[in-house]
Amino acid sequence: MNKRRRIYEGKAKVLYEGPEPGTLIQHFKDDTTAFNNKKHELIDGKGVLNNRISEYIFQRLGEIGVPTHFMKRLNMREQLIREVEIIPLEVVVRNVAAGSLSTRLGLEEGSQLPRSIIEFYHKNDKLNDPMVSEEHITAFGWANPQEIDEVMSLALRINDFLVGLFLGAGIRLIDFKVEFGRLWEQNDTMRIVLADEISPDCCRLWDAASGDKMDKDRFRQDMGGVLEAYQEVARRLGVLTENPRPRGAGPVLVSSKPG
Ligand code: TMP
Repeated sequence: MNKRRRIYEGKAKVLYEGPEPGTLIQHFKDDTTAFNNKKHELIDGKGVLNNRISEYIFQRLGEIGVPTHFMKRLNMREQLIREVEIIPLEVVVRNVAAGSLSTRLGLEEGSQLPRSIIEFYHKNDKLNDPMVSEEHITAFGWANPQEIDEVMSLALRINDFLVGLFLGAGIRLIDFKVEFGRLWEQNDTMRIVLADEISPDCCRLWDAASGDKMDKDRFRQDMGGVLEAYQEVARRLGVLTENPRPRGAGPVLVSSKPG
């Protein structure tokens, strides 16, 4: 297993060469970082939870026609994904004021925004992922105008779906960050697909009843109970059973004795 070729190592994940050309293995680590790696801890079991939560969300999004890089989960920490060319943008969608938006515009945390807002940040750790506008994105060639339109329309569809999905689990989706990639297909056509992960590492999730934080802000703000909060998100989404039966597997055979 350690002989696999490592393609890329990020703060929370590693990408290995996959079994077929055009595939990669995405490995979820327990490393938990904030403020561009200034704060770093290992949270035992976090990678396992994020793997399961992200698998679940990508599958549900796939079912409503959002194209993603996800193929299948391989084991507790790894999933098989399609290799894509990552667009170097962090796309943030916000429903409620929090975090850097509250700081930047002096908005009270928790106040509902007049509509969902999309922001772009240039994915560049050395520069601390600076916020950029569509002008920067097109001028520097990170994406063209059609790609930006597609990214924005996918981001809003993802947001609409996830707001409902989480609300059904008693969770308010405050904001989240997603990344997209270009998937090259056989006949040299290109599709923009959702890549990376969607997990409590890159979302703000508040308990709908109490307002308690159930995401990485617990780590950023030294609140404790990080793993427990991620576990609760997984439990509420119904992804924490040890050996979940495949969807559509049909009724369980209670007795196999003939006659
Ligand atoms: P922000 O309020 O700090 O700008 O964060 C907005 C959302 O993006 C929040 O859900 C956390 C997520 N996020 C990441 O996933 N990675 C990052 O590097 C940052 C800064 C935010």
